[in-house]
Amino acid sequence: LGIHYLGQMHENGMLRIVLDQLTNGQLDWIELDAQFDTVIVGSRQYHLYSGKQRFAETMKKQFPQEHEAIDKFMKLMKTAAKGASLLAVLKMIPLWLSKLLIRTGLIYWISPVFRLAATSHSELLNDLTSNKDLQTVLTYLFYVSIGVPPKDSSFVVNALLLHHYKRGAWYPRGGASEIAFHIIPVIQKAGGAVLVRARVKCILINEDGKASGVTVVKDQEEEKVFAPVVISNAGIFNTYTRLLPQKMQTKPTIQSQLSMVQHGMGSFLVFVGIKGTKEELGLKSTNYWVYKHNDLDELMTSYASLRKEEVADNIPMFFITFPSAKDPTFNERHPGNSCMTILTMAWYEWAEEQVKKRGTDYDDFKMNIANKLIDMAMEIFPQIRDKIEFVEAATPLTNQFYLSAPQGEMCGIEQNLSCFFPEVVATIRAETPVKNLYLSGQDIFSCGLAGALHGGLICTCAVLKRIVYIDLICLKKKKKKKLKWTSKKKEA
Ligand SMILES: Cc1cc2nc3c(=O)[nH]c(=O)nc-3n(C[C@H](O)[C@H](O)[C@H](O)COP(=O)(O)OP(=O)(O)OC[C@H]3O[C@@H](n4cnc5c(N)ncnc54)[C@H](O)[C@@H]3O)c2cc1C
Ligand SMILES: *[C@@H]1O[C@H](CO)[C@@H](O)[C@H](O)[C@H]1NC(C)=O
Repeated sequence: LGIHYLGQMHENGMLRIVLDQLTNGQLDWIELDAQFDTVIVGSRQYHLYSGKQRFAETMKKQFPQEHEAIDKFMKLMKTAAKGASLLAVLKMIPLWLSKLLIRTGLIYWISPVFRLAATSHSELLNDLTSNKDLQTVLTYLFYVSIGVPPKDSSFVVNALLLHHYKRGAWYPRGGASEIAFHIIPVIQKAGGAVLVRARVKCILINEDGKASGVTVVKDQEEEKVFAPVVISNAGIFNTYTRLLPQKMQTKPTIQSQLSMVQHGMGSFLVFVGIKGTKEELGLKSTNYWVYKHNDLDELMTSYASLRKEEVADNIPMFFITFPSAKDPTFNERHPGNSCMTILTMAWYEWAEEQVKKRGTDYDDFKMNIANKLIDMAMEIFPQIRDKIEFVEAATPLTNQFYLSAPQGEMCGIEQNLSCFFPEVVATIRAETPVKNLYLSGQDIFSCGLAGALHGGLICTCAVLKRIVYIDLICLKKKKKKKLKWTSKKKEA
């Protein structure tokens, strides 16, 4: 259901190379329309176009008074993108060294990225421009990933999100399930095994206090699996507070890491089945981001202060996407049909009290919000109103059940401003205070598929004690040479 789109999948891009390696080149990525995102602010529409130059040029056309601010932003975005690898380095060098660099202030001499990372997005944007619409367009991706208002989030993570899609947006051919489908054979070929419906109950700790395996529950039976290294991708909260034995959890080093992070935002999704093909309905492979007005900090503050009963009538933002319009195989698989997903943010607390007494009340609450979201979407796409054949909604409880997200988080821990302070960047890393236990995935780097992938790479470096990024750079160079050679041959 997730993975609406991914950036940086252009030929020979680093992320593309990693995913090609992981899927043995079998996963195909389809590029969305050049105009890949539309941002709707009140009654005004802005369009984002892919392309190294086109991205900024088309933005300037829509904000003719704001050329200087846009140029400045693009420059800072580049600094953030270039420096992002240094944030990873801070997680990979020995902790004592990171701490020394931070304590002495040396890191600020090494790169401006560390100061930018610790700067609030709103603060920086207010310095650049007073145009609130432009500020919104330079922030529009924030809530599905970071989940905190721009005033409480880092400039760097916001800038990285925009940078991620600057070269374009892609969708996996056949849908998101293809990602796992093509990775599994690669794991198996390397001697690995993939178990499903096999919950890890706990991490085994031997008498030396080192991780030595896991207990897995499969078909109601428990089995111990021993291993020299345990890597957990279940997120920092699941790993530390559910999988580690009690006496390990209370370690001050574990507690100190836990105090640095908090649960991220939940999501509310509506899945809509529609009669008619993409052509018949005039649907595009573009995503729509709708905001009630252009003060995102205010919008988040008032959304957060709503009582549960007030939510349905006061949804201030949502995202609309048509997965079927993005996937060229969709019509083969579901002839004559289309689908739409609407997404907004949701708080776990709305649903929490319902866990125990989920009945018609809960269904009403949920479908009330879903119907409101559909109504609002129909204002933009009136042509599908009579064509809707199926509606299903998902809340933070859905994420909790299907993703084991402890509080229905959509993207793991909250990626707030404090997460990008150098001390936190350095501390939350692949190595844990428990020997032979490593963390991987989004919580140790950043949200989204790309963030999780870097989490995986950082973890690989830690386990293998080898900087696999260097291997990747070599591979990229080799491919570039080959590409040049083939294009020369073609020319000849
Ligand atoms: C609806 C939705 C849409 C999204 N859309 C996009 C998008 O368009 N683009 C994008 O880049 N990102 C998107 N994301 C975010 C992206 O999916 C995540 O950031 C990414 O999947 C994180 O990867 P991960 O491997 O760190 O964690 P996860 O993918 O959450 O994997 C963690 C795994 O651990 C398992 N687990 C937990 N506890 C246990 C246990 N005890 N035993 C066994 N297994 C356990 C869980 O079942 C889960 O499979 C979306 C997320 C959602 C929810
Ligand atoms: C971010 O989360 C941490 C951990 O819970 C919290 O201490 C901090 O105050 C938060 N920072 C912001 C800017 O919201």
